[in-house]
Amino acid sequence: MEIDFFRSEDYNALADLTKRSFALSAYTVDRHLPRPLYGQVFFQTVVTRALRENSNACLVARKKDVPLGYIIYGVDLDLSKKFGATLATIILFCVDAAYRRQGVGRSLLARAISLLKSRGVDLLTVGTDCNNLPALTLYQQAGFITRLTWGAWRLYPAFASANGSAREGKPEYRCTPWAGEENALELCRQIERPLSYFRDSRLSLRGLVHLRKLLAANLRKDIADQTTRALIASGTGFWGERPLGLLAYEEEGAIEKFYNLETLEKRVYRVSDVIIARNARGQGIAGQLVHNFCAQALPGAFFIEAWAAMDDWAAMNVLAKNHFRPAHIAVVLHLWL
Ligand SMILES: CC(C)(COP(=O)(O)OP(=O)(O)OC[C@H]1O[C@@H](n2cnc3c(N)ncnc32)[C@H](O)[C@@H]1OP(=O)(O)O)[C@@H](O)C(=O)NCCC(=O)NCCS
Repeated sequence: MEIDFFRSEDYNALADLTKRSFALSAYTVDRHLPRPLYGQVFFQTVVTRALRENSNACLVARKKDVPLGYIIYGVDLDLSKKFGATLATIILFCVDAAYRRQGVGRSLLARAISLLKSRGVDLLTVGTDCNNLPALTLYQQAGFITRLTWGAWRLYPAFASANGSAREGKPEYRCTPWAGEENALELCRQIERPLSYFRDSRLSLRGLVHLRKLLAANLRKDIADQTTRALIASGTGFWGERPLGLLAYEEEGAIEKFYNLETLEKRVYRVSDVIIARNARGQGIAGQLVHNFCAQALPGAFFIEAWAAMDDWAAMNVLAKNHFRPAHIAVVLHLWL
């Protein structure tokens, strides 16, 4: 077996390999999806883009020119510059089922690690399914440490109607679509996302502050440009018209494309952020924002997805109370090189 960079003639074999792997992905384990997609989603979205943008970041293991497996990684230079550490991520990694348990995966990973090390990468991250024991064992043996577990929660229209949607005994806040209010965008500064970098104490505080500022600036810009939509919760009475919470969401068309849902005209929505002003937390505002958004979006939705760190009890309870159910749980691991 030899390991070398991707060549264009590998393309079809890698496509085939990818489509047969990834039986544990968020698109495969969700029994509410019309049919399992296995690796198709990964190949169409992740691999094709990664190879087009940077085929040097794909190592292929071959036996007599036949690809047995591959590993794709990416170095995030923009983020690294200000982060104080060079960051890389394993984007996708698989070995043909017929050749597993023969050391191919371990060799691919070892080669990727040594290449990245020689190029000055400090931190290598990888995400995988929390039940993917082969991958987790392999990563742990290589020295990776778990930093974050997060869940993809989904709300299908049938979940909500089966449970009713009453909101009793809660104070009411006004939830309205963002309509240019500059002061509401200030909430972006308090952005919190289930990102593993925020859980790694070896990263410098300066780097983490930079990351938060970057996420906040991007969200602010996307809302202002209306590439991301937002609902704003405002207080009445004592609070006046002060914006207290913000829910940002995106319409994600990619999954529909794979399921050929044109005729249904249903959307897949993703709640990308829920941000509540620090001194207004614990009063049900997030729950109400999610409730209002779902009431408005669900009739036209195939499903609504939201991500939550599995130790963020507040976020998980908000989702559960609004009838979201966990669909997939992922683990992010870090290796300092
Ligand atoms: C994860 C994967 C790439 C491993 O490839 P592989 O070539 O089978 O791995 P190796 O033979 O080099 O195994 C290395 C070690 O991983 C662990 N491992 C591999 N398969 C395992 C399994 N089925 N159960 C438990 N541990 C396993 C073992 O510790 C193994 O060492 P050992 O055989 O000396 O005990 C492969 O299982 C795969 O392609 N899975 C589907 C795609 C995927 O899930 N990719 C990872 C997502 S990021």
